[in-house]
Amino acid sequence: MTKTSAKNSSFSTARSPRLAIAIMAAGKGTRLKSRHPKVLHEVGGKPILAYVIATAARVVPPKDIFVIIGHEADRVRAAVGDSGVQFVLQAEQRGTGHALLVAREALSPYDRVIVLSGDAPLITAETIQKLSAFHASQKATMTLLSADLADPSGYGRVIRKNAKSTEVRAIVEEKAASTPQKKIREINSGFYAFSVPALYAHIGELKTDNAHREYYLTDMAAVLGRGRQKVVAIKTPHAAEVLGTNTRAEIVDLDARLRLAKCNQLMEEGVTIFYPQTCVIDNAVEIGPDTVIEPFVQLRGKTKIGSDCRIRSYSVIQNTEIGDGVVVLPGCVMDDSRIARNAIVGPYSRLRPGSDIGEGAHLGNFVETKKIKLGKGSKANHLTYLGDTEIGEGVNVGAGTITCNYDGVHKHKTVIEDGAFIGSDSTLVAPVRIGRGSYIAAASCITEDVPADSLAVGRARQTVKEGWAREKRAANAAQKAKQS
Ligand code: UD1
Ligand code: CA
Repeated sequence: MTKTSAKNSSFSTARSPRLAIAIMAAGKGTRLKSRHPKVLHEVGGKPILAYVIATAARVVPPKDIFVIIGHEADRVRAAVGDSGVQFVLQAEQRGTGHALLVAREALSPYDRVIVLSGDAPLITAETIQKLSAFHASQKATMTLLSADLADPSGYGRVIRKNAKSTEVRAIVEEKAASTPQKKIREINSGFYAFSVPALYAHIGELKTDNAHREYYLTDMAAVLGRGRQKVVAIKTPHAAEVLGTNTRAEIVDLDARLRLAKCNQLMEEGVTIFYPQTCVIDNAVEIGPDTVIEPFVQLRGKTKIGSDCRIRSYSVIQNTEIGDGVVVLPGCVMDDSRIARNAIVGPYSRLRPGSDIGEGAHLGNFVETKKIKLGKGSKANHLTYLGDTEIGEGVNVGAGTITCNYDGVHKHKTVIEDGAFIGSDSTLVAPVRIGRGSYIAAASCITEDVPADSLAVGRARQTVKEGWAREKRAANAAQKAKQS
């Protein structure tokens, strides 16, 4: 026994991780003018940083990923903590070089580190692998990923030793660049590979003699060069992968790219999406084949839609599961709900959390539901509020029916059993139970349970006064004649 475990532990030591990934995510994002940290802004329905972490986790296990946090550190940690990554606190944000400086202790057990920017979410595992492999093959101490951008403004420019060299002399930030340097289209992506011992042997040579009085990680290129270390660049042909999110315009641009990519992926899987530029479909949404999504639809969160459905325009559907063959007519709003196969919902239905709509059921215009179960084939077609209600199969809920579920302090439940018929404009004061197959007369106010197969009438009896209107008109006319 002892022998085996000793063997196992020496095995795991021999294979101990030598590659770490550091993700810089401590900055405030001043250019966004936001109260929220930049890396928690969303693109494609997910925080920017969550993309970078997910990609990093495809390259190394989460325990070897170090997210450097600082500005609003607790919020950032809470938002992405379930990914299992490690965190390093950069309490004061004194630049990207300083971010790596504070990670020294965490990274020192590793041989190499890949550094990623927490604000550039489109990077792929394949490109990180290429960067890592190139770094190893070149025996470089620093390798940066570069890209040619049509509009390089705002990015650091790569100054190679000469036009054909893989070696880099320096990275010049936009603000410090001369006019000829500004014309260089090869930009620094903010993704690097470093030899950990070389990085920390020289990181102390960084200075803050720049526009922001910060320690720039980019200056490591020149620092290591002076120390006779090899610094190289590998240019990715996938320039869009390196795009960052320093400004609102850049966030919106990446969001549009991600959403269009999502629509294209769904279309490849057999979904029709008309005018995809107008649809907002989050990353995690799933849709079955032959479903049609009309223009201006939003599908958010963990929404899952079956096959052969039609989602008509202007619906906003969040965290909702929809079965096969469902039709959602225009203008519906749904949150945390479920709709079983072949149901028809809308136009203008509002499903609040916990609405469970049964197979083939109908929910019509201006119907609001909350925490309800509507049984198979049941209908509530017009102007109705159903809350905290359990409705059986084959029930008809007439126009204008209201469940009075709230007494000002507590919520109470309404039960409507199979086959009941609720006449229009009924008021069901909960807690109340309408028995199987019963009828409620229109405009009733029901305050007591109704047994099965009965008729409940809860309204004032109609009285008719014949001739009353004629007499009233005659009296009015007589009074008018007297006055004139
Ligand atoms: C940086 C590069 C630039 C490159 C660009 C690519 C520097 C000095 N410049 O510029 O050459 O073209 O990325 O997108 O590195 N951060 C920290 N701690 C800090 C400061 C920043 O963790 O003290 C984080 C930020 O949260 C961000 C990342 O580092 O996620 C990059 O910082 P940012 O200020 O966005 O750098 P850029 O100006 O874009
Ligand atoms: Ca940036």
